[in-house]
Amino acid sequence: MTGNESLAVVGAGVMGTGIAALASGSGVPVVLVDIDAAALERAEQAIPRHIRMGQLHGKLSRTIAAAPVRYTTALSAVGDADVVIEAIVEATEAKAKVYAELSAVVRPTAVLVTNTSGIPVDELAQHVQRPERVVGAHFMNPAYMIRTVEVIRGPRTAQDALDRLIALLGALDDEAIVVNDGPGFVVNRILQRMINESARIVSEGLASAADVDRLFKGCLGHATGPLATADLIGLDNVVDSLRVLHERTGDSGYEPCDLLTGLVAQGAFGRKTGRGFFTY
Ligand SMILES: NC(=O)c1ccc[n+]([C@@H]2O[C@H](COP(=O)([O-])OP(=O)(O)OC[C@H]3O[C@@H](n4cnc5c(N)ncnc54)[C@H](O)[C@@H]3O)[C@@H](O)[C@H]2O)c1
Repeated sequence: MTGNESLAVVGAGVMGTGIAALASGSGVPVVLVDIDAAALERAEQAIPRHIRMGQLHGKLSRTIAAAPVRYTTALSAVGDADVVIEAIVEATEAKAKVYAELSAVVRPTAVLVTNTSGIPVDELAQHVQRPERVVGAHFMNPAYMIRTVEVIRGPRTAQDALDRLIALLGALDDEAIVVNDGPGFVVNRILQRMINESARIVSEGLASAADVDRLFKGCLGHATGPLATADLIGLDNVVDSLRVLHERTGDSGYEPCDLLTGLVAQGAFGRKTGRGFFTY
C-alpha cells in the first residue's frame, strides 16, 4: 500500500475498532463503517485509548501522529477506498449480504479483505462481482498489539490483490503469514477445537477453568490459556466460529458444547460483558 491508497473498515466491534486503531496509530487514515451508531461512538472513545496502549507497550510508534478516523453509518463511504477490510459479525448470511452491497459500491480495483474467523474466503467471494479481489486477513485480538496476521489466499484470489494486502500489512508493520483457504484456515481450525474441548473438560468436572489455563501456561508455555483466550475473543464469537466449522466439516469436535452455549445464552460473552469463564 502506498501513501496514496486509502483504507476502509466495515464493522466497528471488537476487531474493527482494533484494526482502525492499528491503522490510525500507524499513520494510515481510515474510514470506519457500522450499521450501529452506538458501536461507532464506542469505537471513537476506544481508539485513542488503544493507540496509547499500543504505544505504551512499544507496539505502535510514539513518533507517528495518529491519522484521522472517519466514523459513518453509510456503507457508500467505502467507495473511495483502495482496500476495504470487512469485520462484521461472524454470520454467513450477514456477511453474504454485506459483500453483495460492498461489491456494488467499491472501486473495480479495490481489494476486499475479510477478517472472518473461519468462513472460507472463496465462499464469501461468490457474493461479489469480482471474486479475484477477495482475500483473507485474520487479524488477532487486539489487532494493535498482536502483530502477526494469518493471510488467506482463496483459490480465485488474484496475485496483485494478495500483494496489495501484504503491502498494507507492511505499512502497518505487521508480519503476514500466507496460507491457503479452508474452514477456520490454520489458527482457528486448531484453536476453536481446543477452546471447545477445554470447556468440555470444565463441564465434565475434570478441572476448573483456572486450572485448565494454568496447565497450558505452566506446562506448555502458552502466554494465555485457552479459556482466557476464549473470553478475550468473545464467547458469542467463539460459538459462531465453532458453528461455521461444524457446518462445513461435519466434525463433532467443533459442535459448541453446552457450557459455551449456556454462557452465551446468559449474556456472559467474556471480557466485553465482564463475565465469561472468568470475571473481569
Ligand atoms: N473477536 C475476536 O477475537 C476475533 C478475532 C479475529 C477475527 N474475528 C472476526 O472478526 C469479525 C468481527 O468480530 P468482532 O469480535 O469484532 O464482532 P463484534 O460483534 O464485536 O462486532 C461486529 C460489528 O459488526 C457490526 N455489523 C453487523 N452487521 C453489519 C453490517 N451489515 N455493516 C456494518 N457493520 C455491521 C455490528 O454492529 C458490530 O458492531 C468476525 O468475522 C469475527 O469472527 C474476531
